[in-house]
Amino acid sequence: MTNRRLEQLARQHGTPVVVFDHQVIRRNYATFKRHLPRVQAYYAVKANPDVAILRTLYAAGASFDVASVAEFMLVYDLIKHLPPKEQQDYIWDKVIYANPTKPKATLEALDQYKPLVTYDNLNELKKIKQYAPHAGVVLRLRVPNTGSMVELSSKFGCDPGEAVDLVAAAFRLGLVVEGLSFHVGSQCTNFENFVQAINMAAAVMQEARSRGHEIKILDIGGGFPAAYNRHVKPFSALAKKIGAEIDRLFPADLQILAEPGRFLVATAATAVASIIGKAVRDGKTCYYIDDSVYHTFSGIIFDHCQYHLKAFKPGRTEICAVFGQTCDGLDTISQSEELPELEIEDLVYAENIGAYSNASATWFNGFPPAKVVHVNV
Ligand SMILES: Cc1ncc(COP(=O)(O)O)c(C=O)c1O
Repeated sequence: MTNRRLEQLARQHGTPVVVFDHQVIRRNYATFKRHLPRVQAYYAVKANPDVAILRTLYAAGASFDVASVAEFMLVYDLIKHLPPKEQQDYIWDKVIYANPTKPKATLEALDQYKPLVTYDNLNELKKIKQYAPHAGVVLRLRVPNTGSMVELSSKFGCDPGEAVDLVAAAFRLGLVVEGLSFHVGSQCTNFENFVQAINMAAAVMQEARSRGHEIKILDIGGGFPAAYNRHVKPFSALAKKIGAEIDRLFPADLQILAEPGRFLVATAATAVASIIGKAVRDGKTCYYIDDSVYHTFSGIIFDHCQYHLKAFKPGRTEICAVFGQTCDGLDTISQSEELPELEIEDLVYAENIGAYSNASATWFNGFPPAKVVHVNV
């Protein structure tokens, strides 16, 4: 989208606003499929649960990874018009419940849909058996998250050494282990994490087979990095490594899925905000905008992500600070941005802000989340 169009949209809808370009979402999905044709993409709804985004990805052929009953129902709404028989086939083709820890009430609510759910310990397995006995299960492995922007391995995944015992335990309880899954950490720019994780999964599958348990699905999780800057290597390079390992280690009929979140939506959105205040402190200009880290810029806190601000206005830039609209000192968007001299009501924008951004916006201080505008739907 051109800057002119973006500025026009911001003036038309008012700020703060987040503009989603669905052409970019479709392009990201097509890139994923082109480079990993064997892998079905289950979009991680948590990255951005906006229904318009889900519809676009559904129409493009995506499936979905959900982590709560509410997310499950958002996806179920997309398929509930189908006849009951097709709906049932679709549940696994279209949805994986990939939160390894589920409260009892969640399992009870999901059981009627005979879902595919993940687990990573014996307590969880017993809960699944008791409250969602019709579920199929997928064992999540703990794999290296070295260098990923968001590390997940200290919270999730069983040690590879205990994996086959957990597979056997599931079968003993009368559940069927359909697959293995892992997550290499979000925004994983260290591609070796994927290589090691795929090799670990292959070893677990092999050992499970030797003990009489055939596993049919490999879920390679999320972590595919968004092109936030020019240092991120292209997706094609990562896909080449993943594709080569998969072809080398697994039979052609193994079903492979992935749970990309950030990769599909991060680059599809731009946030536009207005300057609402300006001060000079210790010689440095400080701007205040009508958005915040409690709102669209929540990824600064929750996602360990930094977004750079740009201005539509031309001019020589200088280092400045940018703060959000709330009363909290934590609400610092950047202590070091390069912006031209701006005045109250001027606009600034941040690109690549479609993932883990407005999805985790709050109403802190009484400020509502930014408006969302969808283009090229
Ligand atoms: C289980 C699971 N799958 C997929 C994702 C999506 O990861 P990403 O956005 O890095 O692709 C996450 C993110 O936290 C996750 O926890």
